[in-house]
Amino acid sequence: MPPFNERFQESRVVSIEEIRTAFPALERQHEGFPVAYFDGPGGTQVPRAVVEAMANYLLRHNANTHWAFPTSAETDAALAGARRALADFVNASPDEIVFGANMTSLTFRVSRALGRRLGPSDAIVVTELDHHANIDPWRALARDRGITIRQCRMIADTGQLDWDDLDRCLSQHGTKLLAIGAASNALGTINDVARAVAMAHEAGALAFVDAVHFAPHQLVDVQAWGCDFMVCSAYKFHGPHVGVLFGKRELLRSLEVTKLRPAPDTVPERLEAGTQNHEGIVGTTAAVEFLAGLVREEQGGAAPRESDTWITTRRQRLAAVFDHLHTRGYALLERLWEGCGSIPRVRLFGPPPGASRTPTIALVVTNLPAAEVAVRLAQRGIFASHGNFYAQTVAERLGQARDGLLRLGCACYTTENEVDRVVEALRAIAQGHD
Ligand SMILES: Cc1ncc(COP(=O)(O)O)c(C=O)c1O
Repeated sequence: MPPFNERFQESRVVSIEEIRTAFPALERQHEGFPVAYFDGPGGTQVPRAVVEAMANYLLRHNANTHWAFPTSAETDAALAGARRALADFVNASPDEIVFGANMTSLTFRVSRALGRRLGPSDAIVVTELDHHANIDPWRALARDRGITIRQCRMIADTGQLDWDDLDRCLSQHGTKLLAIGAASNALGTINDVARAVAMAHEAGALAFVDAVHFAPHQLVDVQAWGCDFMVCSAYKFHGPHVGVLFGKRELLRSLEVTKLRPAPDTVPERLEAGTQNHEGIVGTTAAVEFLAGLVREEQGGAAPRESDTWITTRRQRLAAVFDHLHTRGYALLERLWEGCGSIPRVRLFGPPPGASRTPTIALVVTNLPAAEVAVRLAQRGIFASHGNFYAQTVAERLGQARDGLLRLGCACYTTENEVDRVVEALRAIAQGHD
């Protein structure tokens, strides 16, 4: 196989070296090592442009909305621009984009509103593979309103959903909603969301999709999925700590949300309680712009090629970038999986390369709690998360509720060399040579 850089030389996307210069965090050293961030599934690093956009808003445009003076009008314009950016990001309309504190809060809010229509003859389907932010809000609602919860099983050996079980859960009487993840934040498994949504609709249920772990790796397309709701979090795709909700316009209009009487009842503002995190929302736009801006404008100083003229809209630029990031991420995943899999005493979980998945892997080192492995990796400048990552049911089903999992996630700034470093560090830790 040709070296990594050569394989991607012809790409329309800027080089990994250029991408890395955008992230000041990558200059950090720890214990004499350059820091390698494998904690992206918990939160990605933020490019300088995103921080500058946030600072610029706070320093020069800061105001509350809907007033008659320039900074207020600029704030209105920034929020409208953010809805357009996120609409491009997920393939929706700007008035179907709602901002909130994070995915969890938005999910609690939508679940409470939807729950007003539901009662004891109704059921909600959740899955074992999901982060608990897409399980527990529905369970809490079920407790309050006497709704039945059915939980679709995960196949422990492959880390994939049991689709026969999903069919069984959905086709039983009274199913009103399917809550499903697009990708598992613990194992990297990608679900066939379009298929799941079609099954839910066939059963007469709505589909609520958690795309938090999917969004940094592949381009979300709510139209192709056909979902009714989708949630994601900007801090997983190089933005600040802001949650984003997509909802079909009619649903957003008709949801019985709790709101203050003087607050707007128009879509999408009626879903947004109180004053929003304006600087965070501005930073979220900047994160989308950062990703869209990774398309190379020129090849080696020459004019753009004829064949590049199709890249005209922001959505098209995002599609070109995600196509590339997906290919790169996949190559890194293969290297990581192969390297870690070759270490005695290391056990990998989840689907192997070849299956639909993100470049996020979970593993254990026999007889060593995941927290201890993470400490020893950090001593070598490698930052990796451990525990259950709130995918608690996944950890339980894999028998790792007590000792936890170690999670390694590749992001757009991850290099081959960093993958090799983590593999070698794990080898030394597993062999007791650390
Ligand atoms: C797959 C997945 N869903 C939901 C969440 C919760 O997101 P938030 O922190 O924005 O509430 C996370 C956070 O790690 C996640 O990885």
